[in-house]
Amino acid sequence: MKKNSNILANYLLHGGDYNPEQWLDYPEILQKDLVLMKQARTNTFSVGIFAWAQLEPEEGVFDFSWMDKIMNDIYQNGGRVILATPSGARPAWLSKKYPEVLRVSNERVQQLHGGRHNHCFTSLIYRQKVQIINRKLTLRYKDHPALLMWHVSNEYGGECHCDQCQDAFRRWLKKKYQTLTTLNHEWWGPFWSHQFTEWSQIQSPSVIGENSIHGLNLDWKRFVTSQTIDFYQQELIPLRELTPHIPVTTNFMSSTVDLLPFKSLDYSQFAKHVDILSWDCYPTWHNDWESLADTAMKVGFINDLYRSLKGQSFLILECTPSVVNVRPINRAKRPGVHLLSSVQFLAHGSDSIMYFQWRKSRGSFEKFHGAVIDHDGSSNNRVFQEVTQVGQVLEQLSDIVGTMPNSDVAILYDWENNWAINDAQGFGKETKFYPQTLQQHYQVFWNQDISVDVITKEQNFSKYKLLVVPMLYLVSEQTIDRLRAYVEQGGVLVMTYLSGIVNENDLTYLNGWPQLLQKVFGINVLEIDSYYPSDRNEVRYGDQNYEVKDYASVINVKEANVEGVYQADFYAKTAAITSHSYGKGKAYYVGARLNEQFHEVFYQKIMADLQISSNAAIKHEKGVSVQVRLSDTHSYWFVMNFTEKPQVIRVNCEVKDILSGEWIKGEVRLERYGFKIFVKKVG
Ligand code: GLA
Ligand code: ZN
Repeated sequence: MKKNSNILANYLLHGGDYNPEQWLDYPEILQKDLVLMKQARTNTFSVGIFAWAQLEPEEGVFDFSWMDKIMNDIYQNGGRVILATPSGARPAWLSKKYPEVLRVSNERVQQLHGGRHNHCFTSLIYRQKVQIINRKLTLRYKDHPALLMWHVSNEYGGECHCDQCQDAFRRWLKKKYQTLTTLNHEWWGPFWSHQFTEWSQIQSPSVIGENSIHGLNLDWKRFVTSQTIDFYQQELIPLRELTPHIPVTTNFMSSTVDLLPFKSLDYSQFAKHVDILSWDCYPTWHNDWESLADTAMKVGFINDLYRSLKGQSFLILECTPSVVNVRPINRAKRPGVHLLSSVQFLAHGSDSIMYFQWRKSRGSFEKFHGAVIDHDGSSNNRVFQEVTQVGQVLEQLSDIVGTMPNSDVAILYDWENNWAINDAQGFGKETKFYPQTLQQHYQVFWNQDISVDVITKEQNFSKYKLLVVPMLYLVSEQTIDRLRAYVEQGGVLVMTYLSGIVNENDLTYLNGWPQLLQKVFGINVLEIDSYYPSDRNEVRYGDQNYEVKDYASVINVKEANVEGVYQADFYAKTAAITSHSYGKGKAYYVGARLNEQFHEVFYQKIMADLQISSNAAIKHEKGVSVQVRLSDTHSYWFVMNFTEKPQVIRVNCEVKDILSGEWIKGEVRLERYGFKIFVKKVG
């Protein structure tokens, strides 16, 4: 496994969002920051993210003096800067003078000035103003030795329904469909008399207007992604022109509570336009609905998805060293968990641990959000000490920069499918759980230390021995054909219930389940039965019964082998799970929503057939996770105890404990929330 060619530094980045603009009246604090930065073993700071009003206090009047000092001070202190463009929040003068920059909501209400992340992404004025400040920043700091990377805006998201956006949407639609006849067909216009006879009749979806045309809803979401990327790209113009050698990123997100992929932007498209993928991760550690290990599994899943978007190591650009402030209850990470969770980010391919935020603000909305420096300003408190410990560990791990996990297994996630399946009127409206279902399948591999890439439909399938495709409701003929080719060439494909139902414009396939899928799977799917939450069925698989809930497909077996059979209902004794050899590969269809016990047994057998095993020879109890990163010469094993008690693991070959320098084989004790990082020569 080659290291990435685009790594930023030959050390792991440690630091975070730094907002000196909040402290310009407290020079002694800014001075103290420099001392504490060294003490905490930090080296990189994201600066300027929300500093537009300090950089351009009046229209056309710029003040870079304070930023000059910060850039110089950080550099002289041995640090580097990830410099932000400030478009994530704008000065009040801008909204006042140019109200068109204010977003219009879905209900067609223009927003007032305030908050952040709420500009119109089409507004020409906003685009111009952003370009001006971005150009000034680039000109000023293009040759500054502290400049490591560009942080473009902050957590892009949301949508705008103003007139300029409506026009841009219509232009986008015209480009896609060319004629209204085609558009009316693809949107199934005659349903409820919803054809359009003029482009100007088309409007973005609204809760007080049109929201029943699924093709329109889907295209609007695609447009929002495309317009956000377009906005981002115009931000890049001066950066690319003046600093072509400086990489560019923008920080991605996940849903806050369950770490599901961020919904409203299709990151599989956005990722193509960033040089280095970065994201902000805020797991809800120590919650009251799941074990620490279950939370950790979800962290693993989302990191594996975001890493796979570019197939390169990535950056954690924000996490909290202690608490967040946005949840109903904001629990502190228990002692040791910050270090453990940092090690987990590294284990899944991160080359950094960066925080929101360096210093807690004194006032306003985020004054209680965790930070490296608390209001006490001290380096003696628990959080500062734990951050310093992370810094010490990172300093010993520079060799892992750019290394990658190597996965034989991939699970497919699709943003467009998530939009469409949630929009679908039918099935169990509250029980679709598309990304959660992916997490459930992922869990089996996570439990067994099998490295997984969570990939998207455009990525290369052929390098995986096993490809798992749950609930791919929306799937184009082109993707179906790529799946077919994968199996034909020797791949093993697992697909589940609720797959292959509509095409890329949300029109159902005619003449039954898509013909190509019928060929590959050797079955036809006749019906889908949706259960009430209390309904159950069972499937007999091997010599046991496994519980079914939520969904059961009724299958007509043509050439497939029957692997599992329903035990009850009008489809009792018919096939629930099938397998079919096609070309050099095999295709499994899992027609029902089955439980964890089933997934374990089912995938165990497939993995044995395919000789898929962990890249690390370690035996341990459930709740301990092992992930591996590889370079050409070394294999790095991250062993993490996510249980609430000490654990003894067994290492089956000789490895070196990187942090202690000891050679190890046999039993090793992990403290509660403890971890080990081993290295072993390969090749
Ligand atoms: C996001 C933002 C930060 C901050 C944190 C708080 O990630 O990018 O500016 O608001 O959330 O959790
Ligand atoms: Zn707009």
